[in-house]
Amino acid sequence: MKILIVNGPNLNWLGKREPDVYGDQTLADLEEYLSRQVVGRDLELCFFQANGEGDIIDFIQKESDAGGLVINPGAFTHYSYAIRDCVSSMEFPSIEVHISNVHARETFRRESVIAPVCKGQISGLGFTGYRLAVEALTEDGIQ
Ligand code: DQA
Repeated sequence: MKILIVNGPNLNWLGKREPDVYGDQTLADLEEYLSRQVVGRDLELCFFQANGEGDIIDFIQKESDAGGLVINPGAFTHYSYAIRDCVSSMEFPSIEVHISNVHARETFRRESVIAPVCKGQISGLGFTGYRLAVEALTEDGIQ
């Protein structure tokens, strides 16, 4: 099973960016952490990060044969109807993940236009949230 792990704008700056909010680990650390979880399992993780909305959409469309999507859309979470429509068009299930607890921050971060077309949302658990999302997507019955 192929699972897409997509990170949106500014997540390439993990480690440098507001470490008090997002921690001091980098995007490469996240990818290594997730790769370690799937060693020896029949699972392929396909990593992608982009700062542009169109690049994210192009990637997801290109990988439309995947089995699931874990997406941290960054700030696009709060206003990108284009990414929402893309996620909603896919046959596979998607889970939205946030490193920080978006509900404990500024008011504008509490709304996600993408979460309603996902199976669920995980927020505030750091890198663990991505791991739990991968686990959820690999359980039977989530579609
Ligand atoms: C974020 C939360 C968003 O509000 C913010 O714009 C991000 C990161 C998170 O992972 O906590 O870029 O998605």
